[in-house]
Parts: sequence; C-alpha cells; structure tokens
Amino acid sequence: MIILAIESSCDETAAALVKDGTRILNSSIATSSAMHERWGGIVPEVASRQQLKSILPVIRETLSQIPEQRGTIETLRSSVDALAVTVGPGLVGSLLIGLESAKALAMATGLPIIPVNHVLAHMYANFLISGVNQSEAPQIRFPAISLVVSGGHTELFCMEDARTLTWMGGTIDDAAGEAFDKTARLLGFGSGGGLAIQNAALGKTSLHDKTAHPLKLPRPMMDPSTFNVSFSGLKTAVMREWSAIPSHNQEATTRFAWEIQEAITDVLVAKTIRAVRESGAKSVLISGGVASNLRLREKFRDTLKDHPDVGFFCPPVSLCTDNAAYIGSYAYFRGTPVAWDTLRAIPDLSVEE
Ligand code: KG4
Ligand code: ZN
Repeated sequence: MIILAIESSCDETAAALVKDGTRILNSSIATSSAMHERWGGIVPEVASRQQLKSILPVIRETLSQIPEQRGTIETLRSSVDALAVTVGPGLVGSLLIGLESAKALAMATGLPIIPVNHVLAHMYANFLISGVNQSEAPQIRFPAISLVVSGGHTELFCMEDARTLTWMGGTIDDAAGEAFDKTARLLGFGSGGGLAIQNAALGKTSLHDKTAHPLKLPRPMMDPSTFNVSFSGLKTAVMREWSAIPSHNQEATTRFAWEIQEAITDVLVAKTIRAVRESGAKSVLISGGVASNLRLREKFRDTLKDHPDVGFFCPPVSLCTDNAAYIGSYAYFRGTPVAWDTLRAIPDLSVEE
C-alpha cells in the first residue's frame, strides 16, 4: 500500500511517499526555520506564507519519484492508494495549508484520506526502514514504551502493538525541547536550541575548570508516583545560576550546557525506564527532535545494559525532526480514512485518546 503523506503543522512543509508503513519511496521538506531566527521563535504568519509557496512544489517533487508521469491526478490514481495529512496539533494557519491541499487532491482523485495526529505520528519514525545497509523494517517487540520528545511535547506512551497506544504521562508545563530552547537562549545561543547545547556540552572534558563552583540543577518530579514531568523550574534555576556567576566565558557556557543536558536527559531516562519496569516492556522507542540528542541516546543505551532483553530504537536524526515519512507510516499502521469534507484543522488536538 502506497501512501502520499503531507505535513505542515509548524515551520516545515513536507510530503512523502511511503510503502507499507515502512519503506520511504521519496521524501521532500522545505523549511522556513532560518526566517524565524532573528525573532527568537517561530512567527506563525511567516511560517504559513512560506508554506503556501512551498506546498505544491514539495508535493510535485515527491511525486516525481513515480515513473511514467501522466499528470498529477492520473499519477496519483494509478500509483497511490491513499492520502494522509496532519490535522493537529500545530499552528492553525500552517495546518490549513497542508490540510486544504490534501483535501483538494482527495476530491479530485477520489482517493481515501487519513487524518493524522502529528505528535503520535512522531513515534512511527521508528517503524521506517533507514540506513544504507538495512533492508528489513526494525523488529520492534511489544509491549513497547515510547517517549516522544519534541519542541512542543514530552509524552510517554505504552504501545501494546503497532496500533494500540495508552498515554502514561507528559509534561505539565514546558516540553523538553522548549527547555533546551529557552535555556539555550539564556546562554546566548539565539535560536540554536538543543543542538547548540549539545555541541557546547561536547567541550566539557577539555574545558572543565576544576576550580569553578560545581553546578547542580534540579531534576524535578523524579518521584515515582507519576509519569508526568516538569521543566519550567529548570529554566528558572538556570536563569538564577547564570546571573550569579561573574563571567559568562566559554568555560561557564560549556559547564552550564553540560549540566542542562544532564538534568533534562536524567529525567527523561528515569521516567522511561520506570515505565519499562512497570509494564514489562520489550522495547523502548524514542522520537521527536530531542531524540536526536547524542547524550540522551548514550544514556538510554547505558541504562538498558541492565535490561538486556529490552530493545532500544531511535530514528536517524533526519527522521527525528519534522517530516512527512512518519505521517505516512502512522497512517498505514493506525489511520482510518474519513470523508474529505469532514476534515478540520485541530490546533489543540490531544495526545490522549
Ligand atoms: O520534533 P521537532 O523537530 O519539532 C516539533 O515538532 O516540535 O523538535 C524540535 C526540538 C527543538 O526544541 C530543538 O531544540 C530540539 O528538538 N532538538 C534537540 C536537538 N536537536 C533538535 N534537542 C536536544 N539535542 C539535539 N541534538
Ligand atoms: Zn514534530
């Protein structure tokens, strides 16, 4: 089954052709992220205007993979089995660009159309075949614990199988990505976010000044009574500690970046591993932009050495951040087609079903 998937929930405009939920036949992405840099955050109006320019070229480029083109509508009818599109959560102006484009294609072709929850779809990046030497889809054993960590979401799920999800907990305030982004800005990294913190923290071993006062940031809500997390206190603590030191030199930046990364990843790993213990899970899946963090991956691999029967899955970096391939995978494993004229953008679509 071949699905044409469309994603436009934030500042990316993406389309992908996905076969049987696992094989990416083609994937195209346009992003306006650089245009938002000077504002220190995404400007919704700018994002949707750019998406309006990009959506049709992105869809056309994705379809160019199909041989023997007979015009878009005929090509879709002859080579694609269904359409999938993100309906939420996200920015309303952005969601509408992808959604209305997908509806127009559904109306013109008569193809079934599958609405997709962007946050739940992130975890299906783990179901896609990736890497040059891999010909088989990842062998995920169930039940699995799935951690979705993106710019706007930090959510923990139990997957009984590829279709059955139970939400276990999530952030009560800032998401992990938001914590990386806000503290990165405090350290002067502009819009660099989590990647800037990760890169700065890499200098820790060479630059660590033994005379500097040790920095210990809070690891909030580590108590075992909940799978919820909270990161807003971390940002406040970083602000307090950063303004209390005399010099914001490179050594201080490295030390803070390291400890911010340690605090966030400690909380994420601890909550996930406890969920593994309580559920008897056979796999751990991580996804979302923050899942590309190298220290987070390293900590999961180290911690799971104590659980040799539990498999660890994380998508390549290119599939962690927003794209349409995982939208197509989600639609295959979990989607239900609906009549195109019933589809609406749902900016605050919940992750709890
Ligand atoms: O999933 P994503 O691309 O977009 C959303 O759907 O939100 O995630 C973006 C988030 C940003 O907060 C960014 O700072 C974070 O992912 N991120 C990282 C890294 N790369 C991206 N966080 C930590 N370490 C990284 N290497
Ligand atoms: Zn996302």
